[in-house]
Amino acid sequence: MVPVDERAIRAAVDVLECSGLVAMPTETVYGLAGNADDEKAVKKIFEAKNRPTTHPLIVHITGEEALDHWAKDIPQSAYVLARRFWPGPLTMILKKADRVGDWVTGGQDSVGLRCPSHPWAVALIKAFAGKHHRGIAAPSANTFGRISPTCAQHVRDDLGEKPKGKVDLILDGGDCDVGVESTIINLSGERPEILRHGAITRHMLEEALGCSIPDGGKNSPRASGTLKSHYAPVTKVILVDDISQGLKDYVGHKIAVMAPAEKLSATPSNVLKWFAADEDAAAYMHSLYSRLHDLDKAGAEFILIERPTTGDRWDAVQDRLSRAAA
Ligand code: TXA
Ligand code: MG
Repeated sequence: MVPVDERAIRAAVDVLECSGLVAMPTETVYGLAGNADDEKAVKKIFEAKNRPTTHPLIVHITGEEALDHWAKDIPQSAYVLARRFWPGPLTMILKKADRVGDWVTGGQDSVGLRCPSHPWAVALIKAFAGKHHRGIAAPSANTFGRISPTCAQHVRDDLGEKPKGKVDLILDGGDCDVGVESTIINLSGERPEILRHGAITRHMLEEALGCSIPDGGKNSPRASGTLKSHYAPVTKVILVDDISQGLKDYVGHKIAVMAPAEKLSATPSNVLKWFAADEDAAAYMHSLYSRLHDLDKAGAEFILIERPTTGDRWDAVQDRLSRAAA
């Protein structure tokens, strides 16, 4: 873990004060941060990412004490989850407080709130929030539809730093621990539902709230991560049940591969790059995006990935893989 650089944090606060954009490390992925109350700053976020303005942004806050500055009609379940999982990789969708700008909510009457745990994010959000619970709007710091960044170099390669790039300041807080975006739970409707899977699993949420929590349906609030094709490398990704068969099927093509180590002992010469898949869900999640970035750079025609096992802890991995391949 890279120790927090207090001078860099102060410089980042100055950028945010002037409607600028900061790449902020969080425990999930790097975020593209701007002042959530500043329409001009939020517009810049959408422009930099090339993201449709109807897709709402998550506002990053210091914790439970800031909830009622950003949300209203807050159900008890939100406090239960905040106490259990914040700071951490959970985003809650709540009814927005009247003062919250349309620019962050994509015109919806709900707002996404998250309190991250990464020390750099904690330092920046605290320094910026001040007494007034100001919040930082931050989508993942990648071009819309591309793979989310899990280290500062990914942000430099994609959005880039000014003057050549689009971000005023990229904070380098090292690799992200979790590696995929936060779990999103919608608490703005009649009953809780999961809008995006992440490291906080359905089982953990159900245990905390004592009820079953289904996935959101087609009437749920919009979430861009719920587009079928998302988080996608440029190279076409193909998911296969058995890599041995996959290698036979793609014998005449340049490929890049991620599959269990024991199946890759004899690697054919058309395999330009390969990674041994982690057996543990958290480890797989942690390295998934950086591996997709690397496989994407291998110059292959196809990326072949053997589908990992299923189960609660694998929901987020399964979800991101199927979107990468869509
Ligand atoms: O882990 C994360 O959540 C990262 C880090 C930077 O915090 N952020 C992130 O942001 O993944 P983004 O914008 O790439 O994904 C946020 C998702 C989008 O799918 C967005 O549509 C959804 O959250 N979202 C935000 N506000 C919402 C709302 N009011 N209703 C429904 N979905 C919302
Ligand atoms: Mg994103």
